[in-house]
Amino acid sequence: MKIAIMGAMPEEIKPILEKLDAYEKVDFAKNSYYKGKYKSLDVVVAYSKIGKVFSTLTATTMLEMFACDILLFTGVAGAVNPDLKIGDLVVATKLAQHDLDITIFGHPHGFVPGGSVYVESDPDLRALAKIVAQKMGVEVHEGIIATGDQFIASEERKEFIAKTFKADALEMEGASVAVVCDALDVPFFILRSISDAADMDAGFNFEEFVESSAKISADFLMRLLDELIERLVV
Ligand code: ADE
Repeated sequence: MKIAIMGAMPEEIKPILEKLDAYEKVDFAKNSYYKGKYKSLDVVVAYSKIGKVFSTLTATTMLEMFACDILLFTGVAGAVNPDLKIGDLVVATKLAQHDLDITIFGHPHGFVPGGSVYVESDPDLRALAKIVAQKMGVEVHEGIIATGDQFIASEERKEFIAKTFKADALEMEGASVAVVCDALDVPFFILRSISDAADMDAGFNFEEFVESSAKISADFLMRLLDELIERLVV
């Protein structure tokens, strides 16, 4: 069993690399992949760089070249649901591309022929996350994540994304990773910790909280890995 662990930015995978027992760096397609061991598990860790294109390339590489069997994504997101506060954890139930738009031809936002507006994440991994949350005594929200190639710092755009996709959080990589995993039939899990509220203060808040929120998400992901290992061994 080989696990892909992905983030989009260095801050998002740094806490993961620090917990690996050993790893080597493999460079491919202008990116670095860290192949290593976490306890009994083979893992490949990488940050893709920001956005849907880079995250598609990295997810595909992890599954096809490194032959990973499961993909786990960790990182930060902007809150859409007003109940979500900075540092809160959100597990994506399903993901959509909020900037995919051929509505002029009568299609819904986020849809192109041959695809679907939403891609659902793996229910077993989500169930495992609930068990981990219970054991840790932390609250983990489940919700819809909307992805696009824009850093959102506007109430108006946030409102559009909330209304159109019923999204709880937004970011810039989840849905593209979901599309890759779905196409290649690989179970995936997308975890985010809130860094900002995608409003006028988002840029400022993001800079202040990206590191701490990224660590909250990465630390939870490692606990999920522990739980996965326990279940694989038993
Ligand atoms: N990731 C974290 N905050 C974000 C925002 N406001 N827009 C897009 N991606 C984000």
